[in-house]
Amino acid sequence: MTPTTILLIKGLAYLFGSITFIVGLKMMGNAKSASQGNKLAAIGMVAAILATIILHTDASGQLASVPAIVYFIIFGAIALGTVVGWMAAMRVQMTKMPELVSMFNGMGGACAALIGLMEFAHNTGEGKTGTLIAILLGMVIGSISFSGSVIAFLKLNGTMGKPIRLPLYNILNTALLIGLSIFTAYMVHMSSQPGIDHVSAPMGLLYGLFAVAIIYGILFTIPIGGADMPVVISLLNSFTGLAAAFGGFLYDNKVMLTGGILVGSAGTLLTLIMCKAMNRPLWNVIFGAFGGSSGGSSLEVDGSIKDISVSDLAVQLNYSKKVVIVPGYGLAVAQAQHIIKELENLLEERGVEVKYAIHPVAGRMPGHMNVLLAESNVSYDKLVEMDEINPEFEQTDVVLVVGANDVVNPAAKSDPSSPIYGMPILEVDRAKTVIVNKRSMNAGYAGIENLLFYDPKCSMFFGDAKKALTALVAELKTM
Ligand code: TAP
Repeated sequence: MTPTTILLIKGLAYLFGSITFIVGLKMMGNAKSASQGNKLAAIGMVAAILATIILHTDASGQLASVPAIVYFIIFGAIALGTVVGWMAAMRVQMTKMPELVSMFNGMGGACAALIGLMEFAHNTGEGKTGTLIAILLGMVIGSISFSGSVIAFLKLNGTMGKPIRLPLYNILNTALLIGLSIFTAYMVHMSSQPGIDHVSAPMGLLYGLFAVAIIYGILFTIPIGGADMPVVISLLNSFTGLAAAFGGFLYDNKVMLTGGILVGSAGTLLTLIMCKAMNRPLWNVIFGAFGGSSGGSSLEVDGSIKDISVSDLAVQLNYSKKVVIVPGYGLAVAQAQHIIKELENLLEERGVEVKYAIHPVAGRMPGHMNVLLAESNVSYDKLVEMDEINPEFEQTDVVLVVGANDVVNPAAKSDPSSPIYGMPILEVDRAKTVIVNKRSMNAGYAGIENLLFYDPKCSMFFGDAKKALTALVAELKTM
């Protein structure tokens, strides 16, 4: 093959990869096409990886002669990674998805960091400033993303409990970030001096920079509360994308650049969307204290709760005209998506209008409830977003809250001392009757009391969502 042909085939493979990433990402925006979009992007990724490995060229543009052992190592590593990744993804429970995402993301960050560590020495010397910026920024950002993601993973799986706040942690972290930036700039400057080459490259300083970046990633993540972890994971995801994009610059690899930019911008947008949904600026997520903290609302609970029996609830639902179901994290934990669909079918057969009210941060990841309900074939047009459903609550006979807590907590509107104050909520207390299903009076993720449960209109329907709804469905069937 001539160098031109190789370049053309590689360029086409990269173009194909880039297009599939963009189209795949677009398809992931809709639950119906998300799975196909994922597969399409994966095909593009395989094409890009194969083109990079098989069409590897030497300095003259001819196919490079690569020892068989190198191919063996590369394909062996790909096979191993595929098996581990496949098994992890197949086995993971939906509620553990953020953990998996943070682990995969951490691996991406580690790859970017390793690229920097490997490529640094060969790219030093006069006139290499641009390349060194790409290498060192990729390494620093990738390292932060790696260590931050590992901490996020440990927090989400419960290994690391409460947020750890060192004294003056905000000042400490800001000073470390400034120090890290100056250190990186210094490394670029000194490594691009005439006479520096792969032998005299300051490897000791490079490892020092790597260590500081790793420490910063840890210190950046440990003070953040558990409930804010999905936002942090999404932010770290955007860091990994950025680090990969620097790799794309370094290797002049267009598909790596496109992929990195897409991950970086999608992660940034998702971070901002989540912050908007919680009505909290990003700095408040990073420097604030929300969730998992003991400091919280000054609410005095006054009043009592009442519970409702399964037969009374069945009667109430049976004679309703309109029922709105509010799914939350507990629905996912209990895996009650199929039984809730059965309840919906039963009620509709009896002429009851049923809708689902979807809060943008219900559950533990963006779109959690949509994905969960799609599993049991709940029709998309029944899923109504918060702004649209809130005005409808006044005409709703029964709101059935299943395993949701923070997203229906009126303190977000009425109690300025509450950590969730300002977060838009589903205003279920505007409905004629509210029924809340949960197992106990335990708090939700933000760790705060919910006065909705003490509202005279509200009754508690205690029990695990799956068991309680199964009993309810059985009762309704007898009517
Ligand atoms: P939560 O406020 O976490 O409340 C979930 C409730 O489900 C708990 O009070 C729990 O009470 C109940 N529960 C747990 N297991 C159950 C089971 N098996 N059966 C029945 N109930 C069960 O959930 P939410 O209302 O969905 O709010 C989500 C929270 O996560 C918000 O604070 C939100 O800001 C935060 N967050 C979400 C995201 C995204 S993107 N989704 C991102 C960042 C933060 P019991 O223990 O008494 O059963």
